[in-house]
Amino acid sequence: MARVTIDELKAMKGRGEKIAMLTAYDYPTARILDEAGVPIILVGDSLGMVVLGYDSTLPVTMEDMIHHTRAVVRGTQRTHVVFDMPFMSYQSGIEDALRNAGRALKEAGAQSVKLEGGAHMAETVRRLVEVGIPVMGHIGLTPQSMNQLSGFRVQGKTPAAAVRVLDDARALEQAGAYAIVLETIPAPLAGTITSKVSVPTIGIGAGPHCDGQVQVIHDFLGLYGDFVPKHCRQYAHLAEEISQAVRQYLDDVREGAFPTAKESFAMDESVLAELVQDSEEAVRDESRSLA
Ligand code: KIV
Repeated sequence: MARVTIDELKAMKGRGEKIAMLTAYDYPTARILDEAGVPIILVGDSLGMVVLGYDSTLPVTMEDMIHHTRAVVRGTQRTHVVFDMPFMSYQSGIEDALRNAGRALKEAGAQSVKLEGGAHMAETVRRLVEVGIPVMGHIGLTPQSMNQLSGFRVQGKTPAAAVRVLDDARALEQAGAYAIVLETIPAPLAGTITSKVSVPTIGIGAGPHCDGQVQVIHDFLGLYGDFVPKHCRQYAHLAEEISQAVRQYLDDVREGAFPTAKESFAMDESVLAELVQDSEEAVRDESRSLA
């Protein structure tokens, strides 16, 4: 089965068809999303926070990303899989970016990569695209720059900052990015950018006017208790359901209500009788030899 291509994603913008992207980091989740018809999965470096328990995305390594992306690729047939380039796998130079993005496609099996940054990353994007690696841009709030941005704040609120975000989008479009994530910027600014660039914009905390939306699956499913971003709508409360299931299991095991015959395996009576007889004989032999 052929996977969704970057041309199909761009055509969705042309048709005014919204693109629903979600993150995934493992095989079973990826399988569910693929079977549900999600056209594009991001193996985000949000992995660091929602799966690995770090307090930011900065510690995530290429090895972490490759390991998890492989699992997502194994779980999908039709979905386009995007590999999120981790901190310092591309900022340190174009050669590093080429080598690491190459690993994302060759070793992890992704169909494209995402990297953070606007105009200052345009040359890197251009080189990656030139060698055949599709790139999704990511501007606005870029979590890998959280120290430079002094935290997770709405970006592009002043006139100068809004112009910068628009210029970043244009620079990425011109460099050949096939789509651009707009994170945590005012909805009207995201709408303006969406109408001014030819490639799809995928919003997260960027309002309803983007060509698509992306959500971190652990936030969306209510699986990550540490913090729920304002832009997230929780479609389920799985942490509560899991906790309830675990409490029930604890009670059942303690009270002997689990397992029952239904969850156990029977064996032939004669085999059991032979086993008992053999072990009794073995005990008798042992006692005689000790006597
Ligand atoms: O890492 C991630 O999940 C992301 C999304 C928030 C866009 O970059």
